[in-house]
Amino acid sequence: MNRIVVLNPKGGSGKTTIATNLASYFAAQQQKPVLMDFDPQGSSLRWVRKRQPAQPPIHVVNAFEKDSRTTRTFQLRVPDFSTHVIVDTPAALEPRELADLTRDARKIIVPVLPSDIDIHACSRCIRDLLLVAKIRREDDRIGVVANRIRRNTATYQSLIRFLQTLGIPIVARLRDSQNYLRAAELGVGVHEMKSYIVREDVEEWRPLIEWLEPVAAAQAAQAATAPSPVAAP
Ligand SMILES: Nc1ncnc2c1ncn2[C@@H]1O[C@H](COP(=O)(O)OP(=O)(O)O)[C@@H](O)[C@H]1O
Ligand SMILES: [Mg+2]
Repeated sequence: MNRIVVLNPKGGSGKTTIATNLASYFAAQQQKPVLMDFDPQGSSLRWVRKRQPAQPPIHVVNAFEKDSRTTRTFQLRVPDFSTHVIVDTPAALEPRELADLTRDARKIIVPVLPSDIDIHACSRCIRDLLLVAKIRREDDRIGVVANRIRRNTATYQSLIRFLQTLGIPIVARLRDSQNYLRAAELGVGVHEMKSYIVREDVEEWRPLIEWLEPVAAAQAAQAATAPSPVAAP
């Protein structure tokens, strides 16, 4: 299963924003994403419920409510036709939960805000992923998304330096944009909004998509640049 986990023990770093926008991206690509919400706040669940019937469907799994009448496996089942499982996680995670949540993950996205407190929390999170969850750096499964950045600030520069020392790639840099607030209200993602409004935001998602889906991204780029077939005389 193509499982993508979004995590960072710091609240407000952008986990739900990235998880929901990713689900929206795959849905808009005629894929069949599942959003699995492990956060008792249920923000991803509420976001899916705001979607309109005309929008491409996103299956959602309420993973935070433990139902004693069924097995956990049954509760977390996903439809057979699912193409991606995107996991949104709560702020505080025990080391054991971290290992459980990431065991089958193909990719792990760690969003981080450019502030000293957030950088510190991110360093602990990545250390736990490497040491507790035993994820090997060379497997290229962990990627950081620098979120709500303002490029020319000192904190942003220190975030970049810090990540370089960890040897973990920055797979996207997302600006602070009102479009994410609007998208959250409407139950959509930036890839489903009017392109002239979200052009800059959509562009910023490209490296993240390429990191997640290198083969599909290369095929899409090839299709876009391939010369159109010459009509037979
Ligand atoms: N790049 C961004 N630009 C503007 N607002 C953002 C951005 N990323 C997140 N937000 C806002 O910040 C708040 C916290 O983000 P959220 O994704 O809920 O964080 P988390 O799930 O990690 O707690 C939300 O109101 C969200 O809309
Ligand atoms: Mg959240």
